[in-house]
Amino acid sequence: MDVKKKKATVPWMLMTVFFLALSATFTGCFSAASQQPNKEKSTHSKAANGFASSVLFPLTGSVYPLGYYSLFLTIGHPPKVFEFDIDTGSDLTWVQCDAPCSGCTKPIHDLYKPGKHIPVHCEDPSCGAVHFPENPQCERPDDQCDFELEYLDDGSVLGAVITDYFSLQLTNGSIIRPRLAFGCAYDLKHHGPYSPPSTDGVIGLGNGKASILSQLQSFGVIRNIIGHCLSAKGGGYLFVGDDHVPSSGIVWMPMSGNTKHFLSTTAELLLDGKPTGVTDLQIVFDSGSSYTYFCSRIYKPLLDLVMRGLNGKPLNPVHDQALPVCWKGKKPFKSVHDVKNYFSTLTLSFTNTRNVQLELPPEAYLIVTDHGNVCLGILNGTEAGVDEFSIIGDISLQNKMVIYDYEKQQIGWVSANCDRLPSSDGNYEDFQPYAANFGIVEENSPPTETQVSSKSNKKVYKREL
Ligand SMILES: *[C@@H]1O[C@H](CO)[C@@H](O)[C@H](O)[C@H]1NC(C)=O
Ligand SMILES: *[C@@H]1O[C@H](CO)[C@@H](O)[C@H](O)[C@H]1NC(C)=O
Repeated sequence: MDVKKKKATVPWMLMTVFFLALSATFTGCFSAASQQPNKEKSTHSKAANGFASSVLFPLTGSVYPLGYYSLFLTIGHPPKVFEFDIDTGSDLTWVQCDAPCSGCTKPIHDLYKPGKHIPVHCEDPSCGAVHFPENPQCERPDDQCDFELEYLDDGSVLGAVITDYFSLQLTNGSIIRPRLAFGCAYDLKHHGPYSPPSTDGVIGLGNGKASILSQLQSFGVIRNIIGHCLSAKGGGYLFVGDDHVPSSGIVWMPMSGNTKHFLSTTAELLLDGKPTGVTDLQIVFDSGSSYTYFCSRIYKPLLDLVMRGLNGKPLNPVHDQALPVCWKGKKPFKSVHDVKNYFSTLTLSFTNTRNVQLELPPEAYLIVTDHGNVCLGILNGTEAGVDEFSIIGDISLQNKMVIYDYEKQQIGWVSANCDRLPSSDGNYEDFQPYAANFGIVEENSPPTETQVSSKSNKKVYKREL
């Protein structure tokens, strides 16, 4: 894989797959797109689409100190619950796997055991989907389907694609057990100073055929729509299917045609509503990235503006290992609310669109560290090896419902209270993180094979499962 390997200077990021597949299609940080935005309101309706189901997952996690948001999925027979980092920047879902494993971060008894799994063969369409746009390297058609993912910070994951039963509780109460293709990861490497997330695996929520969502859609179970609501207090929720898509209030932007995770229109950066002269930002939404990344061309002027705004304010630069750019006050800060008045609201204003903006108040780009310092959660993308576009990571997606409608190829967002789970009737329920059991099923009845086939991302030859 032709990944640009870079010195690890940023936390583990899960942007790999889309980064690999898509970087070539972009002309760079300086390019401008000119498609018309899609301002249509949501027209989802349960009656009209034939898919009446959704799955709702409570999320745990935080931007800081954890650096990721995660959900729980039940896999296998007997069913076992695993924690997955959510990543809209990649497609393949993988779990640490006792094949056996080298480099796994979980103790052996917590690893997924590929017992009654069914291997995916190298020539299966689902193996092709995993490797798309390349072809899998098959010596024999019935070779196992291997994959390899490389992460921007020098981490890598090696494994084989297999299928197994997932237990999912639909919002109408029914439990389904589709057999889905996913990655059994048996060789994890990380060389940088940052360790990988402590989850069991990563759930790929991108638009590719390899995603478990795309597989569920192909079975006719659930529409290929996901939404997440990340609470700044930690936790939140994620749904698949369209039951929880609000019927109004959402601003929709088209995703650019062949490049699945991008907004098709470039944005201009405003500071407190005023132009900054920074234009033509190509935007990607990536829940697998904790922070927001602007390429050097945009990062430098942004940093200058933020610094200038702090003139005369009681903040002084300080070194904090959490992030590269930090300040301290007269006494340690407890939360971003203590400092937000010293900072401006940033706005991404979509150039060809009237009224479509993504507002980034100070809470959406600052963290307060364990040392009580405030740090800038917008990082130098060029330094991280991302020079062609700007990544809007978790920090800037908090307290918004963000919806990826892969069927209509559009991304929408609306301010939301992410501390409470939505109920299917559109109201909100009090939300107790950890106590809820939505989407997680712990049962011992044998799986019934109602759905077969699958689709699924990368390559390798190693361990025979
Ligand atoms: C829930 O929805 C699924 C898929 O539409 C359907 O097959 C199932 O019968 C529904 N269950 C209930 C209890 O209504
Ligand atoms: C961003 O990173 C690039 C590459 O490491 C570097 O050349 C540039 O000076 C950095 N910009 C800022 C403002 O730190």
